[in-house]
Amino acid sequence: MAKIHVTMKVNGAEVEGLVEPRTLLVHFIRENLQLTGTHIGCETTHCGACTVDIDGMSVKSCTMFAIQANGSDITTIEGMANADGTLSHLQEGFRQMHGLQCGYCTPGMIVRAHRLLQENPAPTEDEIRAGIAGNICRCTGYQNIVKAIQYAAAKAKGVEFKEAAE
Ligand code: FES
Ligand code: FES
Repeated sequence: MAKIHVTMKVNGAEVEGLVEPRTLLVHFIRENLQLTGTHIGCETTHCGACTVDIDGMSVKSCTMFAIQANGSDITTIEGMANADGTLSHLQEGFRQMHGLQCGYCTPGMIVRAHRLLQENPAPTEDEIRAGIAGNICRCTGYQNIVKAIQYAAAKAKGVEFKEAAE
């Protein structure tokens, strides 16, 4: 099948490649770009493991063809750390609050939570739960993921996160 040339910005770097029209964006990211932090859980738009940020929106990259992302500005989990390589507030939150077990959902969760906090820097617990509704975790039961996002929101405001009394 004839291949099509695509270019896009990924984690701040200009990248290009040849793809078949049917190539999913997640496959382009993982196989052509070797950015394997973006996971594949279902390939049917259900789990959110493949979530990346495209032009300021959370997108499930198994739902989009690579050619549809031509010219886009994409951030993957590999682009989520601070510029100096230290952990972002969200990454630190997942670590401190035990927001992961197997870690399979974690890249998608963090990328999604990043956009959620960009749109709403001080979300309520209900808003966090609604905001990550498209991302499935089979391990943690979400409680610690919610705390991790609350931790990041608090840190961004310069305050220490205090867990609500149970
Ligand atoms: S792999 Fe894309 S939503 Fe599950
Ligand atoms: S930590 Fe295992 S699926 Fe979320």
